[in-house]
Amino acid sequence: MTTDTTAPAKHRGAHLDEVYPTLPFTPVSGSGAWLEDESGRRVLDFYGGHAVAALGYGHPRLIEAVSKQTARLHFQSNVLPLGIRDEAADRLAAFAPRGLDRVFFVNSGAEANENALRVALKLTGRPKIVAVEHSFHGRTAAAAAVTWGSKKWYGFPRTPMDVQFVPRGDVAALHAAVDERTAAVIVEPVQGLAGAYDLGADFLRAARQACDRHDALLILDEVQSGMGRLGKPFGADLYRVAPDLLTTAKGLAGGFPCGALIMTRTIAAELTPGQLGTTFGGGPVACAAIVAVIDAIEQENLLENVRTLSALIRQTCVTGPVVGMQGEGFLIGLKTTPPAAKLRDALLERDILTGTSTDPHVLRLLPPLILERSHVELLAAALTELADASL
Ligand SMILES: Cc1ncc(COP(=O)(O)O)c(C=O)c1O
Repeated sequence: MTTDTTAPAKHRGAHLDEVYPTLPFTPVSGSGAWLEDESGRRVLDFYGGHAVAALGYGHPRLIEAVSKQTARLHFQSNVLPLGIRDEAADRLAAFAPRGLDRVFFVNSGAEANENALRVALKLTGRPKIVAVEHSFHGRTAAAAAVTWGSKKWYGFPRTPMDVQFVPRGDVAALHAAVDERTAAVIVEPVQGLAGAYDLGADFLRAARQACDRHDALLILDEVQSGMGRLGKPFGADLYRVAPDLLTTAKGLAGGFPCGALIMTRTIAAELTPGQLGTTFGGGPVACAAIVAVIDAIEQENLLENVRTLSALIRQTCVTGPVVGMQGEGFLIGLKTTPPAAKLRDALLERDILTGTSTDPHVLRLLPPLILERSHVELLAAALTELADASL
């Protein structure tokens, strides 16, 4: 079924602030990797709501865990201990790279990064953060200060710390930038919004070395790349790089607002009660969802599924308007000859949802980890069909 993608979205309300340019499809339900609108039109979701719907839609394990927890106790703050919060922290620590075993739950990726930066600046007593060009770390004050290009929209009169950006892949620049004023280096192992740009093991290991040389801390921002999306639990596992702090969010609770800062025991030992805090972070429903997501990843062999189908996408989807592929696992950038936004619109006309990136010629795929072979075949067929389309 095809749809006019230039038509205004149906049911736009009069009161919702229109800060987002939206696509012309209004889902009302979802099942597996499929979304459906009121008319019954089904769209295959290769974007997962910005990499959030790790288990797709209506996953029985997730629905059951969240429904049971909601009925039992839908909320309590951190003023009272909760068994389900302890369980989620234990499971996440076991899922995270060795050595990272203290978890602080928050509500979003930006909040996780905000706290990681706060901890690094506070514990080292140093004023500078080294970040990487083209990175995205969030829209709050500190996270946006280390985000590349945020000058355009930052909005605050000054940043809360000194920030030095280094070019991607430039190991010499990285070593030169990290010095005795540096509290931390913050880096996404595979840059998400930049178009699934893989920074690679050499650069990440150089970041670790530079930090070790100057007693600075390494923060891996795995908000987008974490929770199995790269075919390993985290990028830290894929590249064998041990961070001091790791942040994650998005797929962590499969769609329930949630983020986490995961730290080494040494760092956590220096934090005293009251130094970090949040009202909603670590709420019982999000924690039940985290346990369900980790259960599904482990019991349904989803890491293997990601690796297998990622290889199939690489083999079959570099076709038609797609001339190459970058990224890892299910954090994929398809390099396009036409503008990626045009290809996204043409695919949506063919009932496949994908996303753009800050690179105008990279189309992003962030599908649910439960994706199936037949879904990849549908994408490959649609791309092949678009070979002769003038986009
Ligand atoms: C790598 C990375 N870090 C941080 C964030 C911010 O996360 P949130 O939007 O949950 O605040 C994002 C969001 O896209 C991201 O991709």
